[in-house]
Amino acid sequence: MRPLALALPLLAAGFLGAAIAARPVPQKSVKVTFYLSTECPVAAKYTPRIRQIVEDFAVKGVEFESRFPNAADDAAKMAAYLTERELGMTGSLDVGGVQAEADGVRVVPAVVVRDGEGRVLYRGAIDDSRYSDGVKRSYLCDALAAVLKGQTPQPRETESFGCAVQPGPMPPVMEEVSYAGQVAEILNRHCVDCHRPGQVGPFSLIGYENASKWSKMVATVAESRRMPPWPADPNVGEFSHENRLSDAQVETLKRWDAAGAPRGDAANEPPTPTFTSEWGAGEPDIVLEMPEEFSVGADGRDEYWNFVVDPKLKEPVWVSGIDVRPGNTRIVHHVIAFLDDSGQAEKLAASGRAGGYKTFGGVGFVPSGALGGWAPGLRPALLKDGAAMRLEPGTKVILQVHYNKSGKPETDRTKIGLYLAKKPVKERVEIAWLANPAIRIKAGDPAAKFTQTIPIPVDVRLYSLMPHMHYLGRSMKATWVKPDGTEQGLINVPDWSFNWQLQYALKEPLLLPRGSKLRIEATYDNSSANPNNPSDPPRDVRWGEETTDEMMLLVASISVPMLGTRESGLMRGRR
Ligand code: HEC
Repeated sequence: MRPLALALPLLAAGFLGAAIAARPVPQKSVKVTFYLSTECPVAAKYTPRIRQIVEDFAVKGVEFESRFPNAADDAAKMAAYLTERELGMTGSLDVGGVQAEADGVRVVPAVVVRDGEGRVLYRGAIDDSRYSDGVKRSYLCDALAAVLKGQTPQPRETESFGCAVQPGPMPPVMEEVSYAGQVAEILNRHCVDCHRPGQVGPFSLIGYENASKWSKMVATVAESRRMPPWPADPNVGEFSHENRLSDAQVETLKRWDAAGAPRGDAANEPPTPTFTSEWGAGEPDIVLEMPEEFSVGADGRDEYWNFVVDPKLKEPVWVSGIDVRPGNTRIVHHVIAFLDDSGQAEKLAASGRAGGYKTFGGVGFVPSGALGGWAPGLRPALLKDGAAMRLEPGTKVILQVHYNKSGKPETDRTKIGLYLAKKPVKERVEIAWLANPAIRIKAGDPAAKFTQTIPIPVDVRLYSLMPHMHYLGRSMKATWVKPDGTEQGLINVPDWSFNWQLQYALKEPLLLPRGSKLRIEATYDNSSANPNNPSDPPRDVRWGEETTDEMMLLVASISVPMLGTRESGLMRGRR
């Protein structure tokens, strides 16, 4: 008799198979587990025999299931195997061969018969021949017949033969992902500022009902890093308000979707965030509003409109930052406040409508300054004490609003709030236009590259950077070349998106000593393969304000410490 002889080496090998039950059990609770593999030819030969056994014994209350421990199997192959062969039982993947090992199964096909309490009544081969016409002993049938009669099977254990079990790696032990557990927190922190009713994001991601409906798209845009919109390379520079997901958060969102977007324990969900329509840094000192209600069409490409607002100042003021209250959050994509002391903006607006005029990214001329930019979810970044922007009487504020179309006619009247400096100002922050108006981009060139190096003749403190290109732009990078020749990246936008032109405020202002250089590199795709190319067929492109023109511009907020509060006029590029 072999059973005992076989049981010993199994135990000696450290297999923790359930102890073989000595007592007979009532017939109802008998369960048979087949270990199979879709690619094992021996297991395949058993198909008619297995089907026959299931047919004969299912009617007597025996339950059947199958497990697939081999790395060669996956869920789709397993499902196809079971249906094509009409095996009439459920299957499960035994990832890492964990269950096979626990059952002491090292070769498939093999079978384990258990009673209702999980005790093993028989384990081993189905019968004694791989060929149906060579079978002398039908171990499994005999064991089941014995068990159903309340007897102990003889033998209780045999050695199976066929294909060696070769499992894949063990599944990594993973924390379970759910909406309540991790996902709500990520969406609330990084997405719902824009993705809630009435905001610029196209749908709400507030609450489980909304979020779970979009789990697939959420996983996709998180992985591609399209959302949240933060086009800057995280390894270059450090900026206030950076809104980016960590790799671990991206992984969590993907796993949540892959697991079917489970909710988890709703009682543990973090509270829905509350939103106020209040100004981000308290009541501003000056509030300026678009001259009148402005109407925006239902569809077509996004539009840039410039509204000229007169702050009606009697004396100069020092501005340390701005905030924006969009009049219509469905369509206000982002806002930049420029300054004009030349009167040109008013002239352009006179031929426009509602106190505004339309451009394409720029404002139509070189503005005399800028107060900053805003996008949904951005809290105002106020300048440090002692530094501020100067606003002179007579200077007009140009509110440049990027409108996103909502599919129906909309109106907007956006407001901007100015925060004035509370402490004495020692350094005047102004705008430097670092531009390369000499760009020539050849029709069809998929990777036109331009480099511009700008010498820095005096100590300059850098506060923020705003890259600007049009539809052919692919990437822009700015590097600080120190006087000793070493380099430090300032900003890198590796995958330029015309839709997300953000002003990046440095976490800490950076002093660029005289003798430094600033190198700007930009690439453009002027081939017809660029889906954003506004010209079809592509044409030679130069610097200009039109949709079909290009720009290579880096708008920098700087101060010149040496000059204190005087205007430098330095580094003003030409537009
Ligand atoms: C600053 C506002 C803002 C934030 C923050 C934001 N979105 Fe969006 N989202 C948008 C806008 C606007 C669109 C419409 C397309 C566009 O303008 O690029 C959009 C589009 C989408 C889309 C539609 C697919 C697509 O490619 O257009 C998905 C999905 C999405 N966002 C998910 C997210 C997720 C997930 C987060 C957080 C991890 C997030 N968004 C954060 C504004 C935002």
